[in-house]
Amino acid sequence: MNTAPIGIFDSGIGGLTVARAIYERLPHESTVYFGDTARVPYGPKSPDTVRRYSLEILDWLLRQQVKAVVVACNTSTAHALDTLQQHSPVPVIGVIEPGARAAGSASTAGPIGVIGTAGTIASNAYARAIQRRRPEAAVEQRACPLFVPLVEEGWFDHPAAELIAREYLKPLREARVDTLVLGCTHYPLLKPLIQQVMGEEVRLIDSGEETAAVVERVLERGGLVAPQGTRVTHRFVVSDDEARFRQVGARFIGERLSRAEVVPLD
Ligand code: DGL
Repeated sequence: MNTAPIGIFDSGIGGLTVARAIYERLPHESTVYFGDTARVPYGPKSPDTVRRYSLEILDWLLRQQVKAVVVACNTSTAHALDTLQQHSPVPVIGVIEPGARAAGSASTAGPIGVIGTAGTIASNAYARAIQRRRPEAAVEQRACPLFVPLVEEGWFDHPAAELIAREYLKPLREARVDTLVLGCTHYPLLKPLIQQVMGEEVRLIDSGEETAAVVERVLERGGLVAPQGTRVTHRFVVSDDEARFRQVGARFIGERLSRAEVVPLD
């Protein structure tokens, strides 16, 4: 039993979709969320830069005495997970393996589609993770960089969002994928639109939900579960612009986010 919080981090706001899945699955666990809003987006940045930023956040979270760290950012998971695991005395869980595993189980007939930031897609991390489990699986990948600002603007069902989604998703529809991994923390907010464009028969995989299930298992195996009745706190910290974080973040997790602290890391 361990009442210490779980550390969760993202390049900004998007990781709140993963945080939300953790709140739902693990209601007795406290969390500290760090959003690197001063340096978002990570998607177009080099692997070295994303690794350096991610290590700085890991160090900060460890100073907050977290018992585990969730890398709630696909780009950071793609470029930095191994490095973070090597540096951390507590378990570090990324979002790519859980999403890849779920996709491998869900897909029956067609190829598996993956959408994400330019960095995540260029890293090929999802394709490798999927093919480790299903070597025969065909994987069709597509970077959808404009989805991130659309979500930040709250344009979930705006006509412009639909136009962009149709354009980005066209090759995946033509490839007849039967499963599509939403390989970016922002994309679950576009789920209804993506589902509509892809068709009802395509299974959408939200890495956040799968990751929360893995976090539960890691805590159980490590004897790190918080006892029932523990007073639960959720702390939110950003590197810049807390007002916007609260305003946009409320769309992700509602009233939980009434207060955020600012901690510039560099
Ligand atoms: N959080 C990032 C991800 O999941 C998306 C936003 C960004 O580019 O930083 O890849």
